Amino acid sequence: MARVRSVYRCTECGADHAKWSGKCDSCGAWNTLNEEPVAAAPATKRAREQARTHPAATAVRLDAVTGSESMRWRTGLDEFDFVLGGGIVPGAMVLVGGEPGIGKSTLLLQVAARLEAAGQRTMYVSGEESPLQVKLRAERLGEQAGGVSLVTETLLETILATAAAPDESDPRALAVLVIDSIQTVHTDTLEGAPGNVGQVRECAARLMRFAKERGVTVFVIGHVTKGGGIAGPKTLEHIVDTVLYFEGEGSLDHRILRATKNRFGSVDEIGVFRMAASGLLPVDNPSALFLGDREDIASGSAVCALMEGTRPVLVEVQALAARAGFGTPQRVANGIDGRRLALLLAVLDKRGGFSCADLDVFCNIVGGMRVQEPAVDLAIAAAIASSVTDRALPANAVFLGELGLGGEVRAVTQVERRLAEAAKLGMTDAYLSERAVPRRIPPGMRVHGVKTLADVLMQTIGPRKQ
Ligand SMILES: Nc1ncnc2c1ncn2[C@@H]1O[C@H](COP(=O)(O)OP(=O)(O)OP(=O)(O)O)[C@@H](O)[C@H]1O
Ligand SMILES: [Mg+2]
Repeated sequence: MARVRSVYRCTECGADHAKWSGKCDSCGAWNTLNEEPVAAAPATKRAREQARTHPAATAVRLDAVTGSESMRWRTGLDEFDFVLGGGIVPGAMVLVGGEPGIGKSTLLLQVAARLEAAGQRTMYVSGEESPLQVKLRAERLGEQAGGVSLVTETLLETILATAAAPDESDPRALAVLVIDSIQTVHTDTLEGAPGNVGQVRECAARLMRFAKERGVTVFVIGHVTKGGGIAGPKTLEHIVDTVLYFEGEGSLDHRILRATKNRFGSVDEIGVFRMAASGLLPVDNPSALFLGDREDIASGSAVCALMEGTRPVLVEVQALAARAGFGTPQRVANGIDGRRLALLLAVLDKRGGFSCADLDVFCNIVGGMRVQEPAVDLAIAAAIASSVTDRALPANAVFLGELGLGGEVRAVTQVERRLAEAAKLGMTDAYLSERAVPRRIPPGMRVHGVKTLADVLMQTIGPRKQ
C-alpha cells in the first residue's frame, strides 16, 4: 500500500521540516509550519529503474526559437495592458491578487471578454460562482462576453483535461485560461483541503506547466491573506511569471492595479481604474483623481509628485496636528509607514523647530494611495508644519525631496518628469534640493532650490510663532 508521508512546510519561506516546531529553522518565523501530505514517491524497483533510464531532453539554440515581442495580445483595457508591459504574452502565467470584493473577477471577466472579441478563444473557470452569477456579471458589464466558455469545476485534473480538449464547435486553439480562484482548485494527487499551501502550490505548478507546454496564457486569481501575501506561500509568487495586486479602499470607487513581479515588463507600474456599474473603467489621468478637489486649500495640505514605475503621479498629503487630550499623543499614518512619520516628526522638531510633542498628529495620503517613496518626506513635513502653525502652504506648490536626519533636503530622481506632470496639473512652484534643479524647467513653473527643511518652511509658512 502506498504510504502517504507528510512534511511540515513553512508558509513564509517554503522550507520543509520533518517534525513540527513552533519556529521555522530556515527563516526564523514563528507559527508558520503547516502539515502537508506528500504523495508517496514511486518506491518499486521498476519505478526506480525507469527513473534511471530517462531520455535526454532536446536543447534548442536560442536563435532557432521562433516568436517575437510583437506577439503580445492587447486587451484594449489600456491600463491593464500597460501594467503587463504592453499586453499579454502568450504562454505566460499571471497571478492577480487582491482583497475580497475588490473586483478581481470583474477585471478578468472583462479581460476575457475583450480577448474573445479580439478573436482569441478563452475559457473562464469559476470555482466560486454559478454560471448564472457569472452571466449576470457579464450582462452588467455590457461586454461582449457571450463567446467566453465557462466551466464551473474545482478538480485540477478535470480543468486541465477540459482546457486541453478541442472544442468541436470551435476550431481555434485555446488562448487564455482564467482560474477563479486558485484557492478553490485542488488536485487528487495530494491529500488536504483546497486552499491549503501544498494544494495551492501543486496546482499552480501544474497550471504553469500547462501554460508553457501549450502556449496558453493562464490568469490565476489569488485571495490575499491576513498578512497581505497571496495564498500564504511566497513560493506561489516565485512560480508565476507576473504578479499583479489589485488594491483600493473599500469606500472609494477607484482601484489600483500594481505589478510587483513581471518577467515580461517593468515592475511597480500602476494602472488606475474606476469601479462603475458597467465594470472597471480605465482612468486616463490618475493625478487629477488623486489631487481631487483642492479648491479651498486649508492648512495642512501639501502636494508631491511620485514616480509610480515610469509614470509620475501627483498626490496630496494631508496632516492634522491637534492638541492631545490626555496621555501619550497619537500618531496616525494612513498611506505612509508609521515609523517614517515618527522619524519625520523628530526631524521637524530638531531641525525645523516645530515640536509636536504635545500634539496628536494624523497624516493621510488622499485617495487611498500607499506611498513608499522617500520623495514624499518633504511634503509630509511641510504639511505637518503648516497644520501646526495653521498657515496654508502656497496653493499651487509641489514639494519633492527626501529628508535626511540632519534636516537636509535630498535630491530625488527623474525630476524633469515629475515637474512636467506637476505643470500639467496647474502647479506653479516647486520646492526641491538645489542640487536637483534640472536644466529644463516647464514653462510657467518656478523652481525653488533649497538646502534644508528649515529653508523650505521659512520660504513657505514663515517663522514659527512662539
Ligand atoms: N452594480 C454595481 N455597481 C457598481 N459596482 C458594483 C456593482 N456590482 C458590483 N460592484 C462592485 O464589484 C465588486 C465585486 O467585484 P468582484 O466580484 O469582481 O470582486 P472579487 O475581487 O472577485 O471578489 P471575491 O474575492 O469575493 O471573489 C463589489 O465590491 C463592488 O464594488
Ligand atoms: Mg471573485
